Amino acid sequence: MEGPRAPTTSEFGDLVKFLDTNLRNQSGWSVVDEYPTALTLQNIHNFRIMRDQEKILSNAVIKPTIIKTRRGLLKVGCLGSVVTSEQHRNQGLSQTVLIDCLESIKSQGCDIAILWTNLYDFYRKLGFELAGGEVSLLIDKPLTVPPTTLKIIQNNKSDTQALFRLYSQHSVSSIRTLDEFEKYLKIPNSRLYTAWTPEGKLEAYAVEGKGVDLQGYIHEWGGTVDGLVALIAHMRIQFGKPVTVISPSHAQGLIRRLEEMGIKRVEGFLGMIKITNPFGLFAKVIRNARQEWGITNFIMDYREGAYYYGVGDNLFRTEHEGDIVRLLFGPQKPSQIHDAGPEVNAVLDKILPWEMWIWGWDSV
Ligand SMILES: CC(C)(COP(=O)(O)OP(=O)(O)OC[C@H]1O[C@@H](n2cnc3c(N)ncnc32)[C@H](O)[C@@H]1OP(=O)(O)O)[C@@H](O)C(=O)NCCC(=O)NCCS
Repeated sequence: MEGPRAPTTSEFGDLVKFLDTNLRNQSGWSVVDEYPTALTLQNIHNFRIMRDQEKILSNAVIKPTIIKTRRGLLKVGCLGSVVTSEQHRNQGLSQTVLIDCLESIKSQGCDIAILWTNLYDFYRKLGFELAGGEVSLLIDKPLTVPPTTLKIIQNNKSDTQALFRLYSQHSVSSIRTLDEFEKYLKIPNSRLYTAWTPEGKLEAYAVEGKGVDLQGYIHEWGGTVDGLVALIAHMRIQFGKPVTVISPSHAQGLIRRLEEMGIKRVEGFLGMIKITNPFGLFAKVIRNARQEWGITNFIMDYREGAYYYGVGDNLFRTEHEGDIVRLLFGPQKPSQIHDAGPEVNAVLDKILPWEMWIWGWDSV
């Protein structure tokens, strides 16, 4: 058995075959088409494989991503394409690969690692916890919207610059290049809808579907609330069946408008998150508390296997990394997770949770 290690360039073709066989044997495209910025030769140093003399047995990939937030930048190691061939499961291969990935994520200075899964217990063993807020809005009936002069188009060949400009207005989003945007637009089964003013200005965009995933989900969107509601109403009619809008909890304008139209919100999690650089991350939170609210006595620290947080002399201790992940990223307020008394609650609820979001195209 060899690994965990990054594949060599000459192994890349075999790796793609391995991933397609194990993850996409029904679809008419390759998994690399669905993750065009992660599963590439340029990112080969961020793959980890285990293999025997004949073939690749297990894999995972890291996509380092910079997330712009209202409070500053977060460096995030997104993990994906975690898979072991069927005959070699339950021998610890994935765990070994993932531990090595986490080492690499740490050494690349990422504040956190994130992944999307329904195997919660498997990842909890590695210190991941469900965290971050995600709101789902199920559009289960046609929306009644005021008449609009907006022209709605479904075509992935669009004005990428205009899309890019609207995307850049998000308060929380990954730093993408125009080239990455163009790659995302080519993902199979990913449909872009755009709304244009009579003057030819892009007012809003929304994307549904992504390869075999997120069918019936609007997972990327941007623009004005009016434009988005017109788009969503149009998409609902086009699909002739329910469609779900996925939104960060902080996108209150859109959420409120849809709720006013009788749409129910369902609270969920952004993903499973693990802290990979506690000192760097806590320093960012402490600095932000000072700069934004003038709070100088907030404490968050990690020492000898335990986490400490609090205000002044009111310190709390936990050995569970998951407690700190949920404190930092929510979705609940700190006081809803643990009642730390009125004084500490007031401070913690002011500075946390940190608004964090990863749009659908960036998930790996
Ligand atoms: C999920 C998946 C990647 C796990 O791969 P794996 O190599 O079997 O994983 P591991 O062997 O490391 O761990 C699996 C289990 O074996 C156990 N295990 C770990 N080391 C072991 C060892 N030396 N001997 C026996 N069992 C072991 C683990 O504790 C784990 O138990 P759990 O399910 O109770 O958590 C694999 O089942 C798979 O490819 N599934 C299909 C694709 C998929 O769903 N990917 C996940 C997307 S997020």
